[in-house]
Amino acid sequence: MMKNNIAFITGATSGFGRAAARRFAQDGWSLVLSGRRMERLIELKEELTDVPVHIIQLDVRDEEAVQQAVAELPAEFAQVKLLLNNAGLALAPQGAPQVELKDWHTMIDTNIKGLVNVTHALLPRLIETGAGATILNVGSIAGQWPYPGSHVYGASKAFVKQFSYNLRCDLQGTGVRVTDLAPGIAETEFTLVRTKGDQQASDNLYNGTTPLSAEDIAEQMFYIATLPDHININRVEVMPTRQAWSAFAIDRD
Ligand SMILES: NC(=O)c1ccc[n+]([C@@H]2O[C@H](COP(=O)([O-])OP(=O)(O)OC[C@H]3O[C@@H](n4cnc5c(N)ncnc54)[C@H](OP(=O)(O)O)[C@@H]3O)[C@@H](O)[C@H]2O)c1
Repeated sequence: MMKNNIAFITGATSGFGRAAARRFAQDGWSLVLSGRRMERLIELKEELTDVPVHIIQLDVRDEEAVQQAVAELPAEFAQVKLLLNNAGLALAPQGAPQVELKDWHTMIDTNIKGLVNVTHALLPRLIETGAGATILNVGSIAGQWPYPGSHVYGASKAFVKQFSYNLRCDLQGTGVRVTDLAPGIAETEFTLVRTKGDQQASDNLYNGTTPLSAEDIAEQMFYIATLPDHININRVEVMPTRQAWSAFAIDRD
């Protein structure tokens, strides 16, 4: 008998997470969708009527709420096969000396501690699922390549990369796979959040080029999570063709 495929998605209210919910629903997956904006979760559940959907208003920074949400998963959603650790954000695009400390803390609390909270809570279930279970962590090219204004954001995504590799070592023999999916520039609400609501700045970033779309990334997510059980993609770095690196900066007299 075919096992029911269940995905637990954090940050399903926007961007990659919402596109992933739609992509996995197309293939009949059951979905646990979480995020802070309940009205968006309700809308998505109303849209995805062909598959079982369980929505949870959840701030990944709230350790107790995360544990409770996992403990209280209805039986039909309990045997999670995919954890899509997608919730995250960048703040403060300006240089480090101009950044408020609380913005650094918010990124650490969300991108590092939040991701760790959800992973820790779901690990036993993923191990129980065994072969074919997947932890798909959304990193960033910022976790590998430095650029001005990346400071704590890039460092938090470097954590995601190394945590993914390290988890693989500890999950050896369980059948659980771990991937760090590291996108480049993609048009979502990411820049709106980063600039604290500056629609013009967001439009300017994406105008006149061809960024990745949320659907491009959702397709990669689906591919990674549905490969045969014996294949683990360790890390995927994906940029739009029109994005590449810049030269080293040299300070001159
Ligand atoms: N777009 C890019 O260029 C890009 C590139 C590389 C990596 N990424 C990464 O991709 C992931 C998704 O970002 P996106 O581009 O899709 O941006 P987005 O459209 O702003 O979506 C971010 C999602 O994260 C959720 N989220 C943020 N803080 C949260 C919290 N404390 N608790 C629970 N959920 C939270 C948001 O939901 P609520 O606000 O409803 O809670 C939202 O659903 C992030 O980890 C981001 O760092 C993005």
